[in-house]
Amino acid sequence: MKRIALFASGSGSNAEKIADYFANSVEVTISLVLTNNPKAGVIDRARRGFGTGQVHAPVLVFDRPTFYQSNQIAELLQNQRIDLIVLAGFMWLIPAELVRAFPNRTINIHPALLPKYGGKGMYGHFVHEAVVAAGEPESGITIHFVNEHYDEGAVIYQTRCSIDPTDTPDDVARKVQVLEHEHYPRVVAEVIQAL
Ligand code: GAR
Repeated sequence: MKRIALFASGSGSNAEKIADYFANSVEVTISLVLTNNPKAGVIDRARRGFGTGQVHAPVLVFDRPTFYQSNQIAELLQNQRIDLIVLAGFMWLIPAELVRAFPNRTINIHPALLPKYGGKGMYGHFVHEAVVAAGEPESGITIHFVNEHYDEGAVIYQTRCSIDPTDTPDDVARKVQVLEHEHYPRVVAEVIQAL
């Protein structure tokens, strides 16, 4: 059985789609959900049982000193024999020690076509606001390996959606979320099968 640790800071809709995708898998399991945000929606989702209610995952809430000034998270993930770290709306930079502990075993989804609209401060709604403000004709999603810099690791998969001139940032967010939910679980499965 391959073991996934899901990191999320917000509502956790992508985490839920991934958990649902593997709900009946005999090869892949969601071992742990981790968050920096004690108010994150993902906590309720994981405890109540993701989606269909079949997948209950233990949740760990951690603070900044634990994440950046200790090795506790890397050690926990190693002790739990985690195969793949999946960031699903996780908003903190991954410390270099954690990247080194899971080389090519940490992936992220970004709600735009990197390398455009990435980097520090470019997350969630800020991305869609910047894309619309620039008059872009299209946006999309980027799934990539994580290194110690925001949004810079090797790209695994990208796909696009068109933006109409009248689209608001909320409209773009909805289009991008459809792509995320459709593609992220499948790409996670491909990455973990290749390990
Ligand atoms: C997603 O759109 C994801 O791409 C984005 O946060 C959202 C989380 O939604 N991630 C980033 O911006 C990372 N830089 P969710 O909590 O509903 O899955």
